[in-house]
Formats: sequence, structure tokens, C-alpha cells
Amino acid sequence: MSINQHILIIDDEENMRHMLSVMLTRQGYRVDSAANGDEGLKCLLANVYDYILCDIRMPEIDGKTFLVRALEECVTAPIIMMSAYGTVEVAVECMKLGAYDFISKPFKKDEIIMVLKKAEERERLKTENSQLREVAAGHFSYGGILSRNSRMQDIFSQIRKVADLKTTILVLGESGTGKELVASAVHYNGRRAQKPFVAVNCGAIPENLLESELFGHVRGAFTDASSDKTGLFEQADGGTLFLDEIGEMPLALQVKLLRVLQEGEIKRVGASAPKKIDVRVISATSRNLSADVERGNFREDLYFRLNVFCLQLPPLRERVEDIPLLAEHFLRRHGSGNDSLLWRIEPDAMRSLMAHSWPGNVRELENAIERACILCDDGSVTSACLPSAICLSEDGRFEESIAYENLSIKKAEDMLERELIRKALVKTGGNRTQAAKILEISHRSLLYKIKEYGIM
Ligand SMILES: Nc1ncnc2c1ncn2[C@@H]1O[C@H](COP(=O)(O)OP(=O)(O)OP(=O)(O)O)[C@@H](O)[C@H]1O
Ligand SMILES: [Mg+2]
Repeated sequence: MSINQHILIIDDEENMRHMLSVMLTRQGYRVDSAANGDEGLKCLLANVYDYILCDIRMPEIDGKTFLVRALEECVTAPIIMMSAYGTVEVAVECMKLGAYDFISKPFKKDEIIMVLKKAEERERLKTENSQLREVAAGHFSYGGILSRNSRMQDIFSQIRKVADLKTTILVLGESGTGKELVASAVHYNGRRAQKPFVAVNCGAIPENLLESELFGHVRGAFTDASSDKTGLFEQADGGTLFLDEIGEMPLALQVKLLRVLQEGEIKRVGASAPKKIDVRVISATSRNLSADVERGNFREDLYFRLNVFCLQLPPLRERVEDIPLLAEHFLRRHGSGNDSLLWRIEPDAMRSLMAHSWPGNVRELENAIERACILCDDGSVTSACLPSAICLSEDGRFEESIAYENLSIKKAEDMLERELIRKALVKTGGNRTQAAKILEISHRSLLYKIKEYGIM
């Protein structure tokens, strides 16, 4: 589909202009026309065109002269020459000068559309290649994090400054914004890169086991402790420990963590002597930690200790310029086999991706593309391959998204449920505990559904 693509037609024959204009408008192009080269050049001053169709034989400024002047003006749109009987030689000359292609008059409707599609494909590959080249050259990536957004570029430069130090870092951001990726980029770009990077999700380990997971235990420390166990702090010795979902850490353990950070030593559960360790701590949360401090759910002293250096990741909806870059990146990753370079995201699908609010951020985008790669196995991702909630957001009307071909109540219920969860997450800024309350379901079943629907 070529909706919104802008074409300029230059031809001195009114019938020709009219015929092309009607035909191309029907195909979804936006069309301007000019009756001679001079008018054509004026149009170039006022508009940016995607393609230009230009007749060769015209009075005064002819097609070839137009071409030369347009190229002098640095017009980048492909210029397609239309040659009538007797001007084929000039057409070939024009190609040498820089015209994209030529088409002989009279032509059939299909022919002109084919030429335009070919040009469109070439333009697409050109932009994509230059994007990939820029990424490869490191302009828009750092340690595996891709972004062309200025706030993210700031974060790249902050990581560069802090990577080699032992400074404690707190990474904040909604679910799926890349907090763990940032933590690993800090580790692997600093002096500790050769030593372990150990990640632990504080919210996923039952409260009674978390202490021995973190600090280890000695044999006999409690009923199940049949042998000594090395804790994660010791495993990360010399390297980095990533404490994910730090906001979920129970208060009792917060005190112990604070002591470890202050004293640089740990004590295994049941042990009497402490042990020196050298660990850089990076913690992350999608919660509003300072609000937790105010409510008394998180210790203020620990908060300050963790928050020596803070990296706040913007949600994907605030950096929409990253959507095409990331979508292409995930397409290369998940598109099957060697052909993945030829995989493409059709303009309709890209429009839906750009319009969606992405409450699950980059992870949600990656899931959507991975799923699309399975559904659209012919290498072309259309909006039909995207989850319905993503296509929905373009007009936001739920009822209209129910197609007559698919009246399954089960499917509609799933769609509604997914949409309600999405809305609740948007409303609470990604806070799952609050979202679960609004949705009147348990925190656990919300987490399950978020996974099931690929919202995160
Ligand atoms: N800027 C980016 N460039 C490339 N990949 C990214 C980027 N941001 C995130 N990702 C990818 O998206 C997925 C989610 O990122 P990550 O796990 O770091 O998010 P998170 O903020 O830790 O999420 P959660 O709060 O749910 O734990 C990962 O597969 C990660 O590699
Ligand atoms: Mg994470």
C-alpha cells in the first residue's frame, strides 16, 4: 500500500496528466501535477516528493533539463522518465545522468505501478541499509541497547562515564524498558567485564529463601540446610550483582542489605564470621521507589545508598522514533533463517506499531514481532499479523475490531481481557500491584496473564 506517498507528474499533455492522476490517486498516492518543466521545478520548491514521473518531450524546459536542474537541487526522490516514440535514446541518456528508470509510452496501468513498486522497494532497502549501517557504526547503539532517542543517548554517555567505577546504580523504568539490558551494558563495558554478572529477581524468590539465596548459608543453619551454600553475593565476587525488582525486597532483609553495602562484607546464614566481598551492586525497579519510601515500605537509608547514580529509562511511547529501529532489529532476530534480511514490515503494520502505546514497552514490541514472524511466514509483516490490541489502538474502537469472520466469544473475551489489563497498566504507569487492584484480580494471576498475552 502506498497511502500518503506523494508523487509529482510532469507532462504537457492534459489527458496524460489526468489519466495518471486518477489512476495513481486510486492506488492511494497523493498526486500533484505540472504542465511543464518550469512548473515542475516550482512544485519542488514547495513540496517533498517520494517519486517524480516526468515526460521527456515538452516545450521550453524539457524532461532532460528538468532532470538536470532537479538533481542540482539535490532532489532525492527517484525520477522516472516517460518516453514517447523517438525519445528512447534521450531516456537512456537521462538514466546515465541520474534518472531512476524510464517507461515507454504508451504504457499499461500495471507497468507504471510495477515501476513505482520497484522504486519503493529500492528506497526501502536504501533507508534500511543506512539505518543498519548507522547501528553497526555504533551511532545508535551501545552495549546491545538500540536507540536514536536523545534521552537514551544521554544514558549511553552516562553509562560510559560510570561503567569503570564501583558506584552503586539504580535503574528505573517501566516494565520492559530495558533495565536489565542497561545493567548488563554497565557491567560488560567496565573493568569488571571479565568477572561474573549475576542477576537475581528479588520478587520471584519466596521471602524466607531470599536471605540464604543472597548471602548463602552454612550447613545446619536451618532444617533444609544439609550442606554449605554459596550465596549470590559471593558468586558475583569481583563482578556485578544485579538486584532486579528491588522494590519487592522485604523490610527485614533491607536492613541486612544496607549493612552489606556499608561494610563490604557478608555473613552466610548461620555463620559467625563475616566475609569480605568486592561486588558492584546495580538495582532496578519499575515501581515508584521514592513513593514506597514515603509510605514506609522501603527504607530511606537503603534507598539513598542504592540511588547514588540513577538511570531513568523513558517508556517506549515517549521515544516513538525507536519503534522502527527496534522493530527492524527484532525482525532480523526472529525472521526465519538466512532470509531474514529480506523480511519486511509493511507500511500498514508500521503505522499500527507507531500508533500503539506499548504499556509493555520494548519487550511487548519484541513479542509482537516474534509472533508476527510466525504468523506471516511469507516474510512480509502486515497489520493482520499483529495482536489485535495493537491494531485496535489506531482507532481505539473495540467493537469495530470484532470482525464478522470471527465471532468466537472466547476470542473476544481474551481480547477484552488483554485490553483491560493494558489500560490498567497504562493508568498505573506499569505498577502491577495497583493494576491488579483496579482489575480486581490477584497479583499472581495478573503476572500470569501479562505473560500469557505477551503484554510484557
Ligand atoms: N533499547 C533496546 N535495544 C534492544 N533491545 C532492547 C532494548 N530495550 C529492551 N530490549 C530488549 O527487550 C527485552 C526486555 O528488556 P529488559 O528485560 O532489559 O527490560 P526490563 O526493564 O528489565 O523489564 P522488567 O521490568 O519487566 O524486568 C529484552 O529482550 C531486551 O533485550
Ligand atoms: Mg527486568
